[in-house]
Amino acid sequence: MKEEKLFTKRLGEPVDGDEVSLSDAEGNILLRDVVLFDKLANFNRERIPERIVHAKGWGAHGEFVPTKDMSKYTLAGLFTKVGKKFKVLVRFSTVAGGRESADTVRDPRGFAVRFYTDDGIHDIVMNNTPVFFIRDPMKFPDFIHSQKKNPVTNLADPNAQWDFFTLTPESLNQVTVLFSDQGIPYGFRYMDGFGTDTFSWYNARGEYVYVKYHFISEQGLKNIPADEAERIAGENPDFAGEDLRNAIDRGEFPSWRVKVQIMTPEEAKKYRFDPFDTTKTWYEEDFPTIEIGRMTLNKNPENYFNEVEQAAFCPGNMVPGTSASPDKMLQGRMVAYTDTQRYRIGVNFNRMPVNSPGTEVFNYQRDGALALNPTGKINYYPNSYDDVVFSKRVKNVPPGVTAPVKREAPPIKDVDFVQPRDRFLAFDDGERGRLMDNIAASLGQAAKKIRYRAAALFYKIAPAYGEGVSERLKLNLREVRRLSRLTQKELEYATK
Ligand code: HEM
Repeated sequence: MKEEKLFTKRLGEPVDGDEVSLSDAEGNILLRDVVLFDKLANFNRERIPERIVHAKGWGAHGEFVPTKDMSKYTLAGLFTKVGKKFKVLVRFSTVAGGRESADTVRDPRGFAVRFYTDDGIHDIVMNNTPVFFIRDPMKFPDFIHSQKKNPVTNLADPNAQWDFFTLTPESLNQVTVLFSDQGIPYGFRYMDGFGTDTFSWYNARGEYVYVKYHFISEQGLKNIPADEAERIAGENPDFAGEDLRNAIDRGEFPSWRVKVQIMTPEEAKKYRFDPFDTTKTWYEEDFPTIEIGRMTLNKNPENYFNEVEQAAFCPGNMVPGTSASPDKMLQGRMVAYTDTQRYRIGVNFNRMPVNSPGTEVFNYQRDGALALNPTGKINYYPNSYDDVVFSKRVKNVPPGVTAPVKREAPPIKDVDFVQPRDRFLAFDDGERGRLMDNIAASLGQAAKKIRYRAAALFYKIAPAYGEGVSERLKLNLREVRRLSRLTQKELEYATK
């Protein structure tokens, strides 16, 4: 026999029915039917705003186990306590689509990992690609506007996408990844995660290094060809989420080898690429990866809204032993996420079980919508009553701002074309062909001047790249070659 459940309103008062409204004999509903209003009013408020980016997502719980003691570089228990199991929450996502959009689109995939540690929450909020489109957070809203829907038509706008890419040519490294086979992963189990940003770690002596995170899939990489992806998007928009959920239900727990690249401050000064520029990687032959742990996902959410929709990740959530770096994008991201979450979920979003650390929290912050204040009458600091201590383990590295402050974009230089060139040259003929087919299918929908600007930039990256795209779009190759010899400013002038 199942246990009987007494049906109540939200405040616990028992009700006499839930299927029929309180009506007179003619069918008119009485205004006093608070049972009906309680139900409708709650329903009317079920949705919270979707994330401004990465709105469509799926999550799972699991664990991270450090396999290497990194105390030489960091005092974080997360990366030094070999064998300890840390609980994790992961949310995978696409970027540009709305909450109900399809999983199998050409788009980067988000890969946000939350670690619950003895020092509170540590988040590593990654994508499945090692580089990003821009290197200054100031450009993020414009970048996202150009990728999402047109403000007039509410339709996708390839013209805006390519206009932005070609006026921001530092994006072409990531564009080359996006339009390659890797641009549509089969599912979340079959992709890697990259912190992309450069972080720092410091040890007990306060010595610091710069760090990049890599999560390497033990399932291997698997991608979907463009035509098949379109078919699947129509048949099952939730394809990747279903794959993840079913695999975990079957006991096939996906796992990732967690690795880092480490660079000393001295090496950072000399490296041929700006180590804090998110449009560049650190080549692995220059800075080999070191395996530091393994992450396994072994539990599906029991309630999607509680555990996934309301999850609030932020790259600024970092435990002692880890810190920011001169990476501008990271610095912008560290404040942007929590800011949007105060709006998207509410100022006290940290009260949700998935957003609370599970460790003791103490400060004098108070009140606000849905507050659950700690008891006690002291709500100010300093005070003569509480014995408060501050952590000596927290260090804000790298120290000191010494250079003059300025608002000045770094010019586009030859070095900005090196990594996309190496990436293009590393592809075999088949991969290059598909990359250029995918680009042509999208770029072909942009205005003619933007097609020329893009082809010239691809030509700058590698002549075969520019020629392949030009041929597919039937562009005049002599003109493309001429444009490719211009500086970025001249190219923009010639094609605006
Ligand atoms: C300055 C550049 C960026 C800004 C301002 C920015 C801002 C945001 C914002 C406001 C959200 C929504 C957060 C929420 O509603 O909870 C978000 C989500 C996300 N961003 Fe970024 N972002 C930036 C760059 C990046 C980069 C470079 C990556 C990856 C390396 C990334 C990965 C993600 C992921 C994975 C999510 C979804 C988190 C989740 O699953 O809840 N973002 N971003």
